[in-house]
Amino acid sequence: MPFYVKLGDVPRKRHVQFRDNGTLLTEEVMGLEGFSGNESILYHLTSPCRVKELGDFQPIERKEWVPDEHRPLHMSTWGVEPGGDAVTGRQLLMWNNDVEISLCRPTEAMEGFFRNGEGDEVIFVHEGTGTIESIFGELAYKPGDYVVIPRGTTYRVVASGDEQRYLVFESPGLIEIPRRYRNHYGQLLEHAPYYHRDIHPPTELHTHRDRGEFHVRVRVRGGYQTYVIDYHPFDVVGWDGYVYPWTFSIHDFEPITGRIHMPPPSHQTFQGQNFVICSFCPRKLDFDPMSIPIPYHHSNLNSEEMIYYVDGNFSSRKGIEIGSVTLHPSGIPHGPAPGLAEKSIGMTETHELAVMCDTFHPLRLTKLAKDLDDGKYWRSWYEDPTPVGTADEDPAGITSHF
Ligand SMILES: [Fe+2]
Repeated sequence: MPFYVKLGDVPRKRHVQFRDNGTLLTEEVMGLEGFSGNESILYHLTSPCRVKELGDFQPIERKEWVPDEHRPLHMSTWGVEPGGDAVTGRQLLMWNNDVEISLCRPTEAMEGFFRNGEGDEVIFVHEGTGTIESIFGELAYKPGDYVVIPRGTTYRVVASGDEQRYLVFESPGLIEIPRRYRNHYGQLLEHAPYYHRDIHPPTELHTHRDRGEFHVRVRVRGGYQTYVIDYHPFDVVGWDGYVYPWTFSIHDFEPITGRIHMPPPSHQTFQGQNFVICSFCPRKLDFDPMSIPIPYHHSNLNSEEMIYYVDGNFSSRKGIEIGSVTLHPSGIPHGPAPGLAEKSIGMTETHELAVMCDTFHPLRLTKLAKDLDDGKYWRSWYEDPTPVGTADEDPAGITSHF
């Protein structure tokens, strides 16, 4: 999506004869928005329609939890039970019609292949290294990477064997680079917090010619359909276009700071359909002598705010730790802990690292959210001022956006 990429061999023109050892290759246009959006064109050894057997269909079942009260929540996710693979191990935490947010701590290798047939994905890698092997080629990942996988991409995650921990977003809408960061031609503008050089498409394309039995699990309407095929799904000899998976490291996000407080949209990293994903990164804080470096209180009149705390010392907020998720639902105000505004004056930098997802429609919660909820975060504004260090003594814990 970010720019034109070509890997492997493609013919001189679209839609002309292209052969591999005399055999006509199968051309597939993988595109969006009815041939008017971005697309890539792939050249297969075998028809991508060829299916040997229909395997299982597994319906999606969500175990919803409706809290008895309307209140902010704090969930500790660090100790969530590991298990499954990079897809089956996704544990849904909250969702609405626009986005699903899951935790994933896979312990098993993926035996087959996966394709999200109805949604784009962003996998934020909190812990772990490895490779996304895909029909478009291989993509290395490491901690701090956002792995953006467009719908229709057949892939599998091959972890390196280290601890893996992801925050996963799945959306039936498109996940895109914010429009205001791009010029009329699609190039990232000078004021954008990242540039094309920070975006990493697949680097190596290996054409698999093996035959045998392969299982491709596809997320389709309401569930997962497994297809059994008799050829390796990564049978592409070449492709080109604008649709492919890519990575962007949160550590390459250039924070935008100001003399006085910059609003949350300055941290925006991706735009989705009725939601945004933002990155809060280490940065210098507001430098006006009269500035208050932490955010103002605010009311989420028509949005919900989910924050996932990745790294840093969050001692400015009792109970917040690495892996914490806070959810500030719509309809009620929220803001920094009592006393923190006063104590933040004079602080010059923050070391926080967090991922935020703001949705414009209410989020529903799962039983997992109930299990992880501390049940008392709502009361934290009622308690005594939070003890924090003096200015610059412990600047890491000044979470910028509650
Ligand atoms: Fe907020």
